[in-house]
Amino acid sequence: VHAVPPSLSAKVVGSFAYLTVRDRLPTILTKVIDTIHRNKNKFFEEYGEEGIRAEKQTIGLLSKMRNELQTDKPVLELADELQDTASWNQYLQRQQDLQGDQDSVSWFKSPWLYVECYMYRRVQEALWLNPPISDYDVFNEGKTQSFFESQQAMMTLCTYSEGVNKNIEELSRNQLLEHFNKLLQVSLWGNKCDLSISAGQDNSQKTSPIDSLNSLQPFILVNDSNMVWAALTAAQRPGQTEKTSAVRVDIVLDNSGFELFTDLVLADFLVSSRLAHEVHFHGKCFPWFVSDVTANDFQWTIRQTMAANHKWMSKSGVQWKSHLKEGVWSYHDHPFWTQPHEFCDMEADAPDLYATLQGADLVLFKGDLNYRKLTGDREWAHTVGFNTALRGFGPAPLCSLRTLKANVQVGLQPGQGEALGSQDPDWMTSGKYAVIQFSSAESE
Ligand code: F6P
Ligand code: MG
Repeated sequence: VHAVPPSLSAKVVGSFAYLTVRDRLPTILTKVIDTIHRNKNKFFEEYGEEGIRAEKQTIGLLSKMRNELQTDKPVLELADELQDTASWNQYLQRQQDLQGDQDSVSWFKSPWLYVECYMYRRVQEALWLNPPISDYDVFNEGKTQSFFESQQAMMTLCTYSEGVNKNIEELSRNQLLEHFNKLLQVSLWGNKCDLSISAGQDNSQKTSPIDSLNSLQPFILVNDSNMVWAALTAAQRPGQTEKTSAVRVDIVLDNSGFELFTDLVLADFLVSSRLAHEVHFHGKCFPWFVSDVTANDFQWTIRQTMAANHKWMSKSGVQWKSHLKEGVWSYHDHPFWTQPHEFCDMEADAPDLYATLQGADLVLFKGDLNYRKLTGDREWAHTVGFNTALRGFGPAPLCSLRTLKANVQVGLQPGQGEALGSQDPDWMTSGKYAVIQFSSAESE
């Protein structure tokens, strides 16, 4: 039995968590403030003086928070009254109980995962307390821009997809496996394009996503894709009725822009090849970690794809739209995805979501933040097994597709972490390395 290691925290001076809280989070907040200010005229046009007042007050609240962060003040209760307010305040209480006293639950002394999530929730609070602009997505401009900057790569991907779909009925099992592996890796590397690690700077896909796969191969530190394939094919239950045998894959989405696009291409392949009959996408209820997908982003992306001035890209968009219309694809959100909990708490704290995921044959968790939540964002030794770090979380067979952007990585071979560390000190945070890490969720 493993003792549970401590959470990563900014209290370790010089750590990546520390640098994030000291530098990256204030930079992100400053950008949020600038964006709101730049849109002042728009708010005036839409809401008159009320809009200007809301703009001022929101900026006031955000500057106040940035100051609390930079001076390591205690984390405050939320003052809004939304569906998730009570559970955030309970979570704060939980942290206070764990840390012993109120003042020690502060920006630099608490778990990094908690305070980083909390910052995005406070941005939302500032907007929600100012009704005319409550629904304004402060990250929308960046997400839109990164979508358009990746257009060329998207077209390339759609051309590839068209080639696969054209004769998908005739493909042998091995050919299907080959395409599956490619599109899984495209979706994996799509995770490089998030706007939180770059603090909002352009981080779009510029090269051909398919051609670069070979040269990226050595950077995949754990590659369990064979097990993912096995889980998917074991779920095929021939001979039963369509309804009971439907194979369902859930994708817990991460970022908008190129990454979401790669997820949609993969999901389309899964249903077109009949490896799966249903795909459930899980997104965020409000703007989160700069570039994460909300319902709006999801719909917008599909509409943009349909409207693209490229034959195969617009064809893909039309196809995706029809998957949604027919219910082959569906989009879901749940407040738990925008809470700070480690996923091992899901069964107790969001039993309805846990039960939902149990209906899947495979759950793909995209990105770094999901990996941090899967492993609890803790100081695990690199050789600890993925199952150990999951601490009982296993609603269904699951796989993390993640580029490394935080100081947690489990399931490595003895010596592997050390070797990487000596040749490339930033290996865990540069986004240059990745894992395809699987857990079967069978009780041990
Ligand atoms: O520290 C890097 C970071 O900003 C983390 O806060 C977060 O885990 C991650 O990037 C977001 O990345 P992703 O979009 O892959 O979850
Ligand atoms: Mg993200």
